[in-house]
Amino acid sequence: MALASKPDLDVMKQVNRQFVTGVTVVTALDGETPRGLAVNAFSSISLDPATVMVCVQRTSSTHDCLFRASHLAINILSTDQLDVVGVFASKTEDKFKDVDWESGPFGSPLIARSSALMEVEIRERLQASTHTVFICRVVHAAVSELPPMVYGAGKFFDGGALAPLG
Ligand SMILES: Cc1cc2nc3c(=O)[nH]c(=O)nc-3n(C[C@H](O)[C@H](O)[C@H](O)COP(=O)(O)O)c2cc1C
Repeated sequence: MALASKPDLDVMKQVNRQFVTGVTVVTALDGETPRGLAVNAFSSISLDPATVMVCVQRTSSTHDCLFRASHLAINILSTDQLDVVGVFASKTEDKFKDVDWESGPFGSPLIARSSALMEVEIRERLQASTHTVFICRVVHAAVSELPPMVYGAGKFFDGGALAPLG
């Protein structure tokens, strides 16, 4: 049997940099206070029933509020929201101070100018080493005309200006 080995950390960082994603802001209400953080560890699991997942680091200051919530909003950021990603990837005290948002049908904070957004009901909270994986059922979804923000190798790109292959 092959011995288990651990990949080099720098190689793993480079591997991750080769994977291009969108960017979301995952939000929830903490009592009356909206909370959220930038998350690119988002994936659709199934279309019908509409099921998605997000992974959130347990040391994030937003984590416990998300963990306690019954519903979350997953705001898929647009090219118009470079300011928003900067705020939600930070540890700023009141991230919603200069952000235009409204409550969704199930109370979660929906951020204006998003490319698309979902409100989801949390079905499972799986512990995966440093992170919690939230498995969620989509209960509300909306799409805008704004193209998505793209994230790769530490930079943000215009998802409306991608060159097709072939
Ligand atoms: C593009 C991008 C993607 C990120 N993706 C994740 C993620 O998937 N999960 C996570 O826990 N943190 C992710 N982060 C980091 C958090 O957004 C960041 O640590 C934030 O400051 C946490 O804020 P908080 O401690 O106030 O919750 C990402 C940051 C950026 C810029």
